[in-house]
Amino acid sequence: MKLHGTMGINAAGHLEIGGCDTVKLAKEFGTPLYIMDEELIRRTCRDYYQSFTGKYGSAEVIYASKTFSNIAMCHIIKEEGLGLDVVSGGELYTALEAKFPPQHIYFHGNNKTPAELEFAIQARVGRIVVDNYRELEVLNSLAAEHRRVVDVLVRVTPGIEAHTHEYIQTGQIDSKFGFTVSTGDALRAVQMVLESKHLAFQGLHCHIGSQIFELDSYRHTAAVMLKLCAEIREKTGAVARELNLGGGFGIYYAAGDTPAKISDYADVVMAAVKDLSESYSLPMPKVIVEPGRSIAGPAGTTLYTTGSTKDIPGIRKYVAVDGGMADNPRTALYQAQYEAVLANRAAEAAEEIVSVTGKCCESGDMLIWDIDLPRVNSGDLLAVLCTGAYNYSMSSNYNRLPRPAVVLAKDGQADVIVERETYEDLVRNDLVPERLLGSRNLRVARR
Ligand code: LLP
Repeated sequence: MKLHGTMGINAAGHLEIGGCDTVKLAKEFGTPLYIMDEELIRRTCRDYYQSFTGKYGSAEVIYASKTFSNIAMCHIIKEEGLGLDVVSGGELYTALEAKFPPQHIYFHGNNKTPAELEFAIQARVGRIVVDNYRELEVLNSLAAEHRRVVDVLVRVTPGIEAHTHEYIQTGQIDSKFGFTVSTGDALRAVQMVLESKHLAFQGLHCHIGSQIFELDSYRHTAAVMLKLCAEIREKTGAVARELNLGGGFGIYYAAGDTPAKISDYADVVMAAVKDLSESYSLPMPKVIVEPGRSIAGPAGTTLYTTGSTKDIPGIRKYVAVDGGMADNPRTALYQAQYEAVLANRAAEAAEEIVSVTGKCCESGDMLIWDIDLPRVNSGDLLAVLCTGAYNYSMSSNYNRLPRPAVVLAKDGQADVIVERETYEDLVRNDLVPERLLGSRNLRVARR
């Protein structure tokens, strides 16, 4: 088991995060509770900034806000000097609410609606990453309508199969994202951008997948992308000034995960792009990377209260917590693995193997299969680690569970950055048509 960031165990044997005792956090804010370690978020942002922009100059790191998006997080990212990747009107709106400088916002997505594209044009986002022919058409006419020249990157599918879970691979040829390189669509799309008076071709984008450990995958990707840059120059004369290689840097969730160092990732990517540019006699493009998981993931912890248990002798002991797949669908969706600590007895040795389940009404609602823990009593606090990425952002109200609060912990202080939903929030948008309240129904109800 690995403790992350500022985590420690205090004299009372309680898990601490950002100098805050998690037992006190549970008392003050209730459970389930997402706790974000601000120091660790900032440390990782600085590591990225130093390793890419600081060391190489012409490189930009942009945070993939789909990972964990809210106004406070956008403020942190802005303060740390990173750009922002948004994939919807909602993420863009959130960024603008944080006064995020629009020129550092990149707008992605495989099916941006005309309304979203118009919103992005009006907000003057820095780059729109064009994904497909329909978008090219819609964007072109919207840009014309607004008398604007929009800076675009063309998203391409490089045909790289990264070693990761199938659902989170995106660079392979059979993918819904981007223009395929091998079919000639990528080149055709670039030509269309170049022919437009309202679109300015700035470069290319790709993303080969997520939770990637092999840095070689990025080297292969750079090779495909630079070859395409050379072909673009040869056929059109245009030069890709920017090369956005997406995100995907893997993190440690559980034993067996072997993340690389961010500085090694930067060195591999920058050296590959530099060598390839030289060999094709292309000017070195500005390199952009879009990490999400590696910035937010390890900084997040979900604190639960344990409730019922079910022991099936010789088979399994289930320990249920007061949350589950509604606040963390990743185990159910991707067979994700997590480590956990009994937060109120963090120094105690493990005694039994249990499986941690949630309170949702289905058997797939599991958080952790088979984990060693001290003997768990009802009312203990269980901290599931490394839940900062794709947990809050993928949470739902399944079973009408209100979403947990999110607190940001730093130097002994914890501030709520997303409030816990209430039952009133759950019914806020519910409407009852008049006919359901009519006299006939009342009669039926009375009978
Ligand atoms: N850029 C693009 C275009 C992306 O599609 C993604 C993630 C990223 C950057 C950030 O990748 P990261 O550094 O976080 O690996 N829900 C899944 C992950 C889906 C990733 C989607 N795209 C999960 O929970 O594992």
